[in-house]
Amino acid sequence: MNIVLLGPPGAGKGTVAALLKKELDVPHISTGDIFRENIKNGTELGRKVEAIMASGGLVPDDVTCEMVRDRLGKDDTSNGYILDGFPRTIAQAEALSTIDDIDYVLNFVLDEEEIVRRLSGRRLCKSTGRIYHIVTNPPKKEGIDDETGEPLIQRDDDKPEAIRHRLEVYKASTEPLIGYYKDKGLLVDIDASVSPEDVLASIIKAVGR
Ligand code: AP5
Repeated sequence: MNIVLLGPPGAGKGTVAALLKKELDVPHISTGDIFRENIKNGTELGRKVEAIMASGGLVPDDVTCEMVRDRLGKDDTSNGYILDGFPRTIAQAEALSTIDDIDYVLNFVLDEEEIVRRLSGRRLCKSTGRIYHIVTNPPKKEGIDDETGEPLIQRDDDKPEAIRHRLEVYKASTEPLIGYYKDKGLLVDIDASVSPEDVLASIIKAVGR
């Protein structure tokens, strides 16, 4: 089953994808995570995208589409995948349609006030990518990852100015995908305001698993 997670920044896509991948036994492919991994490893791609990501802008479509085409060609995608953060523009959606058929596009619905609350309180472990929230999902010991004991970090693009810019970019470039996928009969709205476990349950129901 090939699933796309669509929705504004901070709606909980990464959090729920970590649960959903265990249910479906398919890989979670997050373009944001792949870019961050490249930045961490100092690759040429990482150097190219670092400033764009820190400001909350979008990486150019050609760079992103080539990276996704390459990733979806790997053997572990043969039983399906969860695509998180891609497509983000109509051009990316058109490119995806030339790579593979998508079964469901799950549209995470959440109001802006809660989005800002979630993003400004998010912390993560740099090496494992594990996501926390200082209020709703804190680590056992403040500022420290439960598993690795490493200090948690705040993403550069979770600073107030970058959050504002990401929301503008989402409205201008990504929101049009809601109509695009609705017209194709693939879109399912998911209430993202409830707990991650309840979001997962509504997804399982929606995809019939
Ligand atoms: P990306 O990493 O994809 O960021 P995003 O889409 O902005 O999504 P986020 O990771 O911010 O949020 P999320 O929905 O996964 O929420 P999370 O689960 O973490 O992209 C980053 C950047 O990379 C882009 O800005 C761009 O520069 C570049 N990029 C990536 N893909 C691209 C593309 N296709 N084209 C061009 N550029 C691209 O949760 C957020 C917080 O809320 C956490 O603290 C969590 O604990 C908490 N939380 C989650 N769920 C719940 C819940 N149900 N209840 C309460 N709290 C919750």
